[in-house]
Amino acid sequence: MKTVLILNGPNLNLLGTREPQVYGSQTLADVQALCERSCAANGFALDFRQSNHEGELVDALHEAGRLQAKGKLAGVILNAGAYTHTSVALHDAIKGTGVTLIELHISNVHARESFRHHSYISPVAQAVMCGFGVNGYALAVAGLAGMQAAT
Ligand code: DQA
Repeated sequence: MKTVLILNGPNLNLLGTREPQVYGSQTLADVQALCERSCAANGFALDFRQSNHEGELVDALHEAGRLQAKGKLAGVILNAGAYTHTSVALHDAIKGTGVTLIELHISNVHARESFRHHSYISPVAQAVMCGFGVNGYALAVAGLAGMQAAT
């Protein structure tokens, strides 16, 4: 069974209390439980993480690249939070490892402030998902399963 790494960036540990009108009322633990169910339904094991530190996210992407090369990882679902809009380091890590990656946002970033309209992740992602609320995580897992089946 292959693993899916679901990687959450800065401030996503605040889900549930952070701007609930934008991100909803479910906590990160709720999202993890949703991802557990979705991974089980799609035949994946789950590795679910959150970090507020850019370098830790880079390290996790490097590890993911190594695991994917060994056939142990199906891919990464990355909600990079605000680093989406700033991080050349995350862009380079995804490009440099060649890891299969779905960019995810809970909110529709294109309907928000203009500084959220540019993503350093999108050009190196296989797919981009935004605006489905936290249910987007489950949809992204199903999307990754579909990608696997097509290869
Ligand atoms: C986010 C959107 C980002 O612009 C923001 O900085 C976040 C969360 C989302 O999930 O909608 O932290 O990635």
